[in-house]
Amino acid sequence: MSWWKHGVVYQIYPRSFHDASGDGTGDLAGICEKLDYLAWLGIDAIWLSPVFPSPMRDFGYDVQNYVDIDPLFGTLEDFDRLVAEAHRRDIRVVLDLVMNHTSDLHPWFQDSRHRRNGRDDWYMWSDGIRGPLGRRRPPNNWRAAFGGPAWTWDPERGQYYLHLFLPEQPDLNWRHPAVEHAMFRQAEFWLDRGADGFRLDVINYIVKDAALRSNPYRLHRTFPRRHDQQNHLRDRNQPETHDILKRFRSLLDRYGATMAVGEIYPNEGVMEPAVSATYLGNGTDELHLAFDFSLLARPFSAVRYRRALETWYQAIPGSGWPCHVLSNHDKSRAMTRVCRGSIGRARILAAMLLLQRGTPFLYYGEEIGMQDSRLRRTELQDPLGRKYWPLFPGRDPARTPMQWNGRTNAGFCLPGTRPWLPVHESAARGCSVEAQRDDPESLLAWYRFLIQLRKTRPELTRGDLEFLPSHRDVLAWTRRVGGSSSIIILNFSETMRPSPHEGPDLRGLEVRITHG
Ligand code: GLC
Repeated sequence: MSWWKHGVVYQIYPRSFHDASGDGTGDLAGICEKLDYLAWLGIDAIWLSPVFPSPMRDFGYDVQNYVDIDPLFGTLEDFDRLVAEAHRRDIRVVLDLVMNHTSDLHPWFQDSRHRRNGRDDWYMWSDGIRGPLGRRRPPNNWRAAFGGPAWTWDPERGQYYLHLFLPEQPDLNWRHPAVEHAMFRQAEFWLDRGADGFRLDVINYIVKDAALRSNPYRLHRTFPRRHDQQNHLRDRNQPETHDILKRFRSLLDRYGATMAVGEIYPNEGVMEPAVSATYLGNGTDELHLAFDFSLLARPFSAVRYRRALETWYQAIPGSGWPCHVLSNHDKSRAMTRVCRGSIGRARILAAMLLLQRGTPFLYYGEEIGMQDSRLRRTELQDPLGRKYWPLFPGRDPARTPMQWNGRTNAGFCLPGTRPWLPVHESAARGCSVEAQRDDPESLLAWYRFLIQLRKTRPELTRGDLEFLPSHRDVLAWTRRVGGSSSIIILNFSETMRPSPHEGPDLRGLEVRITHG
């Protein structure tokens, strides 16, 4: 069975994991120093949010050069060392590839804006249209995901350009074959250096309607995109994307045991597992894995999670493989969002995530119960938070430094250094690796136990899954392969509930795992 099917993937936000260089920002050498911890935890792969040179307007998701490491994070030699050290511990390294857009400082965009080097059409340019009073305006009504129109006038070229995110993140024109060729070469650069795969940023955005037609109107209630009352029919999920992904899959397959997981950005908060599943193609010819964010959007509820999981499983093609995620760098942490600080709830979620059928994605710090931070306006770094504060603090609260111990700066950086975001005060109150590592009752010990259990019980990775009929507060399922089986029963309620299987009633927030 491939590593990306049986393994656990751990997402690292490199700015926040560990600072080895002493500047208050995490780096590759810092990650390298913590590989023993990750091996001890038992994870199989790390996914690094972007580490490439970037002006950091969107903290690395605005790439200025795809084939180098930003000095903030280190050098190419540091990367090589990280790959070698990770592989030595049987840990794969997955990079974050942003194919939809580049930074406006990328030489490709500079060339395109100045119509140089044959790159005139590498981005999405338009003259726009004339309004009733003869005033020029963008060619359609598309809105950027971070607010405002998706088109910005470029006086240098005398045309509008498209950006589905910040104006500093112009969208590439994937209908131009040279763009695909160039981007695929960037991917090969990292595969040749030993990377084991990619997380593909907003991969369902890359191709746009050829005629640039406007999106139809649709009422949404989710914040912060309440301004965005449209159904993104024309600027997302275009059918040509699948052809591109098939070609990308062939490229990856040439390298053997690689993996691509796609971020399928939902249509303004409306989860569409069936859409995510289409990016798996026939199960073997497009992405290996695709994110469905339904679990992230649900409250702490057995029935709601069960419905989300069933819908997700039903959507996956026969030979396709699911994956599951509860937290990432764009969302409030599950420990805050749905567990409200309760370790009991966190234990339930850990068991749900790690014992379902499919590849679990863990977000750094989830295993010790890290929570969102309350940050002051002056502490915010994320452009989204700066724009919408105080209504929405942006994504910084879930990106604070990893808590290694309870001392000053939590072992993330030296005590005399100022970390790029403040360390959460819970580090001093037991929410750290050091405090939990040797405590068998800790959340960290629980995560480690579940991860080890996956490795020793074949049914927990390879087995079929069947939900058991149960009380609405109870989520119960069996995993079975060959003669080996497990029954997992989770009581989401704080009070006693009947067990759906033999045995006494379940205590509040109980996790019961029995093996057959
Ligand atoms: C993805 C990333 C997010 C980023 C956006 C634009 O959604 O996860 O962090 O801001 O793409 O690149």
